[in-house]
Amino acid sequence: MQITKFDNKPIGIFDSGVGGLSVWRELIKLMPGQEFIYIADNAYCPYGPKPKEEIIERSSRVTEFLIERGAAIVVVACNTATSAAISTLRSRFCIPFVGMEPAVKPAANFSKSGVIGVLATKGTLSGDLYNNTLERYASNVEVIEMAGTGLVQLVEEGKLDTPDTEILLNKYIKPMVEAGADHIVLGCTHYPFLINLIQKIAGEGVTIIDPAPAVARRTYTLACDLGLFKARETFFNTTFYATGSIDVLKLLAGRISPDIPNYSFNEMNI
Ligand code: DGL
Repeated sequence: MQITKFDNKPIGIFDSGVGGLSVWRELIKLMPGQEFIYIADNAYCPYGPKPKEEIIERSSRVTEFLIERGAAIVVVACNTATSAAISTLRSRFCIPFVGMEPAVKPAANFSKSGVIGVLATKGTLSGDLYNNTLERYASNVEVIEMAGTGLVQLVEEGKLDTPDTEILLNKYIKPMVEAGADHIVLGCTHYPFLINLIQKIAGEGVTIIDPAPAVARRTYTLACDLGLFKARETFFNTTFYATGSIDVLKLLAGRISPDIPNYSFNEMNI
């Protein structure tokens, strides 16, 4: 692939909804002054139960939109879309992509009990990316998998700390802890928004792993290598788009960053 030098070009980020904000949160810490374009494809959320072909089609449409607006790198801030679509995106579009990786390797390496938990969508748990990662890095530990059905929708409704959310999380987290898991991997970018409740249910002795900081570091290194990122003394600049309602995106972005007056929020139909 021929890669040109980019300067002052935006980095595109997308997810089925607000989950990718957990990656954006890490990116803005590492890359002050960088321009981002974030798309929440929430008219089609959740991706998790959808057929692979549909996730590929939506991911391609969203990527086209980002490239039309100048994105020089696209961060697929969604485990489900990474698993279903990233190899097709790489073959269809001539720009670099950064995807989510299930953080099974650090969990398996650091586990003392020999048991780890993985909470992810059904689509991620049944995908090749996750299963190949398990084979490579987790053959020495017992892995308790839970499909977090319903959690993405609760986060999309802004219900981060409600009794309904706690009841559902109890159902998924308790069996992991009872089986002896000392590390729990968050395999969906929506779940870091539930980390306080997850930690409360799992107990202080359990380490919860959010892969977003590692993905942000990879993006930062790539952007530096491409000459795209140069730290600037300016405020952050992100343009947000949602294919459905923009409300929860605006609410959560505002909680993450006080620079919210500098952002623009748009609803659009693609
Ligand atoms: N944030 C997406 C992920 O990381 C959510 C998937 C969905 O929409 O079901 O998998």
